[in-house]
Amino acid sequence: MTLKIGWIGCGIHATQMLLPQLVRHDVEIVALCDIDAKRLASAGRQFGVKTLTTDADALIKTPGIDAVGMAVGPDQHLAFGKAALERGLPVFMEKPPSGSAAGARELQAASEKSGKPLLLGFMKRYSVGNKIAANIVRSGRFGDVLGLTGYYMTAPGYFVGNVDYTGFFLHHCVHYMDLVSFLVSPVKKLTARKVEKEPGKILFHINFDFECGAIGTIAMGTIQSRGAPVERIELMGDHQRIEVDNVIDIKWNRNPPFKVDDPTATLTDTIDSLTWKPNFTAAANEDPKGYYSLLSDVVPALAGAATAAPNIHDGVTAMERLETLRRELEL
Ligand SMILES: NC(=O)c1ccc[n+]([C@@H]2O[C@H](COP(=O)([O-])OP(=O)(O)OC[C@H]3O[C@@H](n4cnc5c(N)ncnc54)[C@H](O)[C@@H]3O)[C@@H](O)[C@H]2O)c1
Repeated sequence: MTLKIGWIGCGIHATQMLLPQLVRHDVEIVALCDIDAKRLASAGRQFGVKTLTTDADALIKTPGIDAVGMAVGPDQHLAFGKAALERGLPVFMEKPPSGSAAGARELQAASEKSGKPLLLGFMKRYSVGNKIAANIVRSGRFGDVLGLTGYYMTAPGYFVGNVDYTGFFLHHCVHYMDLVSFLVSPVKKLTARKVEKEPGKILFHINFDFECGAIGTIAMGTIQSRGAPVERIELMGDHQRIEVDNVIDIKWNRNPPFKVDDPTATLTDTIDSLTWKPNFTAAANEDPKGYYSLLSDVVPALAGAATAAPNIHDGVTAMERLETLRRELEL
């Protein structure tokens, strides 16, 4: 059955990333909402939607909708998410699920009270390299994950005129507060330290002690250009190592013998390194960042199915972890 969706927020992310992938699924976008009339009209034209409103409450009350989706901002996610759930509608929202852990817990309570799911846009789980890494680990062929290292950087330009790191934490860091546990296990302890070159240019190292016994370090900061890759993850096991570069390129190093002195040296399926990157010239959907794959779990979940889509429970965990991080950094 085609799912009828009302959507709030017709900004860059919604119109360029989410809605084009959403409409590939069995959905009908019935109504759109944005306070910016120009963006609203443009989105209506692009996605063929006639019911347009600047009032989110009116959108949520649109007759006949089965679910609400939104990509707006932290405070609006809290207000509109609660309003939609209170109306008995399942919700998909981009991260962050409100601007605080307390807000995320309010959303969780609203979801539990209404019995309707609240799914979240933690699509890093679905970015193709991360997805492959997680599948290798879950297959049992990797053995225990002993360590996680990586980095997630952004640029100081993000802070022009606003040297308040709140946006960096809420819109960026929150992704890895979720991803590390998706790849390894729940976090037992989080500590962090920082260096700030000048206001707006910060680097911090986060240490994770995982429940499974693994240790982890993620470097994060605002001192790199976004014109070059800014994400990397490495999982360390016993004679095994997975490297994911730029969320897409993946290499799985295993336990090969020395080759140089062996005249019969070859490459063997079971012990040599495996590597993959997509062919970007193929006219096929590689969905590298994972929005389509995320929505493949989200859409059936909105219709009531149990899927692996990240939900508000994951959101509460990530937001609580984010606040621990900010306390550690005194930021
Ligand atoms: N998962 C990801 O990869 C990813 C990437 C980018 C953005 N996002 C998230 O998506 C959200 C939106 O980000 P963006 O980059 O598209 O921002 P944006 O500013 O381009 O879009 C937000 C839109 O919401 C509209 N809006 C604001 N208040 C509103 C209200 N009260 N009612 C209706 N519309 C309202 C704005 O007019 C704007 O068009 C943020 O929470 C961000 O963290 C996620």
